[in-house]
Amino acid sequence: MATQTELLAESNEYLIPNYGPRMLAIVRGQGARLWDADGKEYIDFFPGFGAGGVAGHCHPAIVAAVKAQAETLLSHGNFFTNQPEIELAKAITQHAFGGKVFFCHSGAEANEAAIKLVRLAAGEGKYKIISFNNCFHGRTMGGLSLTPAAKQEGFEPMLPGNVKVDYGDLIGVAEAIDDETAGIFVEPIQGEGGVNIPTIEFMQGLRTLCDEKGILLVCDEVWTSPARTGKWFAYQHFGIEPDVMTLAKAIGGGAPVGACVASPKYADVLGPGKHGCTMGGNPLCAVAGLEAMKLIERENLVERAATKGEQIMQTIRDANIPCVTDVRGAGFMIGIEIDKPALDVFKAAMAAGLLICLAGTNVVRLAPPLTIEDDLLEKGLNILIDLLK
Ligand SMILES: Cc1ncc(COP(=O)(O)O)c(C=O)c1O
Repeated sequence: MATQTELLAESNEYLIPNYGPRMLAIVRGQGARLWDADGKEYIDFFPGFGAGGVAGHCHPAIVAAVKAQAETLLSHGNFFTNQPEIELAKAITQHAFGGKVFFCHSGAEANEAAIKLVRLAAGEGKYKIISFNNCFHGRTMGGLSLTPAAKQEGFEPMLPGNVKVDYGDLIGVAEAIDDETAGIFVEPIQGEGGVNIPTIEFMQGLRTLCDEKGILLVCDEVWTSPARTGKWFAYQHFGIEPDVMTLAKAIGGGAPVGACVASPKYADVLGPGKHGCTMGGNPLCAVAGLEAMKLIERENLVERAATKGEQIMQTIRDANIPCVTDVRGAGFMIGIEIDKPALDVFKAAMAAGLLICLAGTNVVRLAPPLTIEDDLLEKGLNILIDLLK
């Protein structure tokens, strides 16, 4: 087995450097624990950058389902279907707003499908999409067009007609809508942008504006769902339903699954020939996602996220850490704002055996797996609190 130093050196040689130099070479994971190639163990408060959001790494039920499926059928192409993708679509729509699902592999792809759906549904001449400052919708040209300008540099021209408004600025949104507007893309809680929680009035206002103007509301729930924020889907905190919802990361239980979910009214807009993804809905990935959904139900993880998440945030607040200026979030989607560079905390935590993430320059982001054991959660939190102090 190669050492970490060897693997990191080779990664520089063979992998395109778009992520910068890799920090660790990972060999194994179990729940909220991860091991690097030198055998060092970490508590993982950010498994798979969200992909391990439900059960962390290699949950036995997910592994068993994937193993069994791997011995049966990996994929078959889109002219056919399979029971796992149907059941996963059923599980998603039953906990959301009905409708139908298009499967792909990533959040960016799910948003591409949603952009196409919105344009088709809105009709000829309507192509503009409103999105929000500090949002993130992925790195493909469509998703990038909706994402702030800093990430677009060098890739212009973007899709025409994207308008950015401040998150929370309902008047700005109303002013931005014109006869060519097709829809609004919003994260019901902004992740990359700093764990920003909108008001109920803002989200309900977006719904009303969309209804009044006959345009579509798309909730990008790639980060926030399923179950992470203490609801099956984060839009459910606001008493509204979107027309379209996009999912990825945790919806695959650790396997690559992206999903564009269309409400009943728009369920058949992407008709035959209008969109596709060769491996979308393949049974190998779908069983992993399905097991994750079953686990959420079996272990009441929606409720656990809600109650435990509050406890985590209160523990951090009660620690009275001088550099912490705000603790916010919903469920297990937590942001700790500090008056120092969050990158320093990230690096120190990694050295101390705790993996966390950042949002922007001064927010430490936590998204532990919903199944994390209480003692491991406490141990990780103690490491973090000591470091922040
Ligand atoms: C809200 C949101 N949408 C879309 C994406 C893109 O997802 P992916 O990296 O799977 O393409 C991300 C990734 O972090 C995200 O946070």
